[in-house]
Amino acid sequence: MKRLDFDREAPVWCTDCCPSTNAELKELARQGAQEGSVLIAARQTQGRGRMGRSFSSPEGGVYLSMLLKPRLSEKVPQLSALAALAVRRAVLECCRMQADIKWPNDLLLGGKKICGILAESVICGEELSVILGIGVNLNTAAEDFSPELCQIAGSLYSLSGKMYDREAFACRLICELDELYSRWEKGESFAGEYRAACINVGRQVTLLRGDERISAYAVDIADDMSLVVQLPDGKEERIQFGEVSLRE
Ligand code: BTN
Repeated sequence: MKRLDFDREAPVWCTDCCPSTNAELKELARQGAQEGSVLIAARQTQGRGRMGRSFSSPEGGVYLSMLLKPRLSEKVPQLSALAALAVRRAVLECCRMQADIKWPNDLLLGGKKICGILAESVICGEELSVILGIGVNLNTAAEDFSPELCQIAGSLYSLSGKMYDREAFACRLICELDELYSRWEKGESFAGEYRAACINVGRQVTLLRGDERISAYAVDIADDMSLVVQLPDGKEERIQFGEVSLRE
C-alpha cells in the first residue's frame, strides 16, 4: 500500500488491488487507524454490496473507503446519504454531469446506476466506527460489466464517451466528503440539497421490507434525510436508511 501525499490530517492509502477496501479498512480500524483514514483501490476482487450482495469492481472504477467516528450514533444512518451528496458534487465538478439520487444512496445517470455506497459499522473497544465505502463506475468499460449488470449499471465513461482522471476524481471526492462530514458533525443539515437531487419524491414507490412488498407514495425527504411515505391506508411514515430498500 502506498500513502498518497495529501493536504489533510488523516492518511490516504492507495493500492492497485485488494479484496474489499471496506474489509481492509475495517481491519485497520481495529488496529487503531485514525478517523478520516481513506483507502482507495483500482480494483477489488471481493467488492461488497448492500444486503450481502457482491459489488462488481473491475479496473476503471474508483473504490474508496473512509473511516469515520461520528459523535452521535443515532445520526449514523444519515452517513450514506451524505456520501451520495459528496459523489454527486464530485461528478458535477469533475465530469460536468448532474446525477440523480435514488433513495437512499444510489446515484443514477440516464437511469443507470453509476455508484454504490455501503456503510458498515465496527466497534473498536468502546468506540463506534463507520466504514463508509463508495464505488464509482468512472472509466469502467461496458464490456467489463456482466450482461445482467449492463441492464442496470453504467459508467461515467460509457454514458459520456469521455475518460476521466481517476486520481483527480478521488481527490475531489475526498475533499467533498471531508467538508460535508465536518459541517454535518457540527449540526448542519443537507436535506435541502438531497431533496433537490432525489428522484423518488412525488412518485409511487415499492418498499421492500424483508419478504414484504408495500406500495407507497413518496411524499418528501425529512430533515434527517429519511424518506417520508404515505401508505395505502393514508398514514405517513418516515423511513430510515437501512430499514427498507425501494423499487420504482
Ligand atoms: C451497493 O450498491 O450495493 C453498495 C456497493 C458499495 C461498493 C463499495 S466499493 C468500495 C467499498 N468496498 C467494498 O467492498 N464495498 C464498498
